[in-house]
Amino acid sequence: MSENRDEYNRGGMLAFAFCMVFCLAFFIYLVAINKGVDLAENVVDPNAPAAEGAAPAFDITKVAEPWVSTPEMVTYGKKVFMTNCAMCHGNEGKGDGAAGAALNPKPRNLVEGKWTQGEGVIAHYNVLLNGIKGSSMASYAHFKPADRWAVIHYIDSITNNKSKDDPAKVAEFAKTAK
Ligand code: HEC
Repeated sequence: MSENRDEYNRGGMLAFAFCMVFCLAFFIYLVAINKGVDLAENVVDPNAPAAEGAAPAFDITKVAEPWVSTPEMVTYGKKVFMTNCAMCHGNEGKGDGAAGAALNPKPRNLVEGKWTQGEGVIAHYNVLLNGIKGSSMASYAHFKPADRWAVIHYIDSITNNKSKDDPAKVAEFAKTAK
C-alpha cells in the first residue's frame, strides 16, 4: 500500500517539477528573450509626408507622354474606367454593366474586343473623342487627353484584341489630337 503511494507521489512530483521548470523557462523566455511586438512599427500617419526615397504619388498632369502605356497609367486608367465606364461596360469590361443591360446596341465587351470603329489605341481615342453615333456610347471630349489615354491603356491591358498601333505613329497622332 505505502509502496504504491510512493510510486504515485513520485510521478506527481515529477510532473509538478516538470511544470515548474517549463513555466520558469517560459517566463524567462517572455521577459528576457522574446522582444514582443512593437506596435509603433505599424502606426502609419496618412498625413505624414512621404518617406524619403519612397515613390511620390502619381500625378497624371505631370506625365509628359501620356500616350505611352506605363503601369501607373494603367492603374490610373482603371480608376477612370470604374468611375465613368463600368456602369455600362461592366466592372471587368465584359460589356455587362447594370446600366448597359437594356441598351441597344449593347455596350462592347472590351475584353473580347470585337472593335467596330477600328482596331488599336488611335481608333479607341477617336471613339472617346467622338462617341459612336446611333448608340449610347457618348463622346468623352470633355476628358483631359491624358485621362483618355489612361483609360485606353487600361482597356488595352484587359482586352484580348490588343493594339498593334506603331508607338511612333501613336506619338505623332497624340501630338496633333485634341
Ligand atoms: C451609357 C453606357 C456607356 C458608357 C457609360 C460608356 N460606354 Fe463605351 N460603349 C457603349 C456602347 C453601347 C457601345 C457599343 C456601341 C455600338 O456597338 O455601336 C460602346 C462601345 C465602346 C467601345 C468600342 C469601340 C469599338 O471600336 O468597337 C469602346 C472602346 C468604349 N465603348 C469605351 C468606353 C470608355 C473608355 C468609357 C468610359 C470613359 C465608356 N465606353 C463609357 C456604352 C457606354
